[in-house]
Amino acid sequence: MDEISIIKSRINEVTDPSCNQTLGENNSVKHVGIDENNAVVLIVEVAEKEANITKQITRDIAKIVKLDLGYSGVKIEFTKRKVRNKAAKTLLIASGKGGVGKSTVTANLAYALTRLGKRVGIIDADIYGANMPKIFGATDHKLLGNENGKIYPFEKDNIQMVSTEYLVEEKRALMLRGPMLGKVLKLFFQETLWSEEIEYFLVDLPPGTGDVMMDMKNFSEDAKMVIVTTPQESAAHIAIKAGYAAKDLSHDVIGVIENMSYYEVNGEFHYIFGKDGGKKVADELSVELLAKLPITPSDKIICAENEMPGIIYLNLAKKIIDIL
Ligand SMILES: Nc1ncnc2c1ncn2[C@@H]1O[C@H](COP(=O)(O)OP(=O)(O)OP(=O)(O)O)[C@@H](O)[C@H]1O
Ligand SMILES: [Mg+2]
Repeated sequence: MDEISIIKSRINEVTDPSCNQTLGENNSVKHVGIDENNAVVLIVEVAEKEANITKQITRDIAKIVKLDLGYSGVKIEFTKRKVRNKAAKTLLIASGKGGVGKSTVTANLAYALTRLGKRVGIIDADIYGANMPKIFGATDHKLLGNENGKIYPFEKDNIQMVSTEYLVEEKRALMLRGPMLGKVLKLFFQETLWSEEIEYFLVDLPPGTGDVMMDMKNFSEDAKMVIVTTPQESAAHIAIKAGYAAKDLSHDVIGVIENMSYYEVNGEFHYIFGKDGGKKVADELSVELLAKLPITPSDKIICAENEMPGIIYLNLAKKIIDIL
């Protein structure tokens, strides 16, 4: 073992008193270095950055580093751990064109995952056209915060959700640029009191390849992405562009979902918006076409479990569980 690995393995034994787990168990030692004065430099993540906690951890680490290992000193930068479950998987729902059904797919996928026994959180990150509250019938909901500035997500049918819509006055659009946008994403990813049981986060992105997609890497490094398109030539064309842009931003695109693929009447399929746009996007990006969803009456956004689009969503959810 090299010097750094030895230091890390020893420090990993220290207990974080705020959660009674060792730093190793929580993978809390984020950086180990040695400076020019032979002092150990560390970045350590803690659940709570309270002075009595960081003091105790510093004392325990100093004992190991100075007394046991013989270094001249130790410098520790403490960072606060994200509130949410670290093992949770994140799926970004993206598109090229707007209005292709990202939000509809996100909500139905959340229901399908829930029906399969998974606990799901939705982050409505569509800063210009947030409509998750509308889909969930929760436009009147008021975000509650605690004294530490954390917010509680909205919850319905065992699904938790936060939306940019909750950050603005009714009937107003949220207008954000870089730094503010980062703050909103930070609020949703790091300062929301998500249930620790959540296993899957679904992020409804704005259409195209704007700031949100660019920023997302800072908040969920290992998120996967699906791209929603309709079969239309023009939608597919822009979806391919979005897919390439996502890949350029080193997003891991795992598949394509074709929405509004066909309209079914008495077992007959009508391809109202053309055919195979989704396949074209999937082929071009060398990923799987994960599902083809029919056109359904718009008064029923959330599909029933045992009827047709609902069954497709269940299969889609199973595939996504396997891939993630
Ligand atoms: N399979 C479908 N059949 C019929 N209508 C649908 C279907 N999917 C979505 N819609 C309807 O199309 C409209 C756009 O869908 P949705 O809001 O989900 O798209 P979006 O990609 O999230 O849009 P935006 O880019 O504005 O966020 C909505 O009115 C929705 O109810
Ligand atoms: Mg939307």
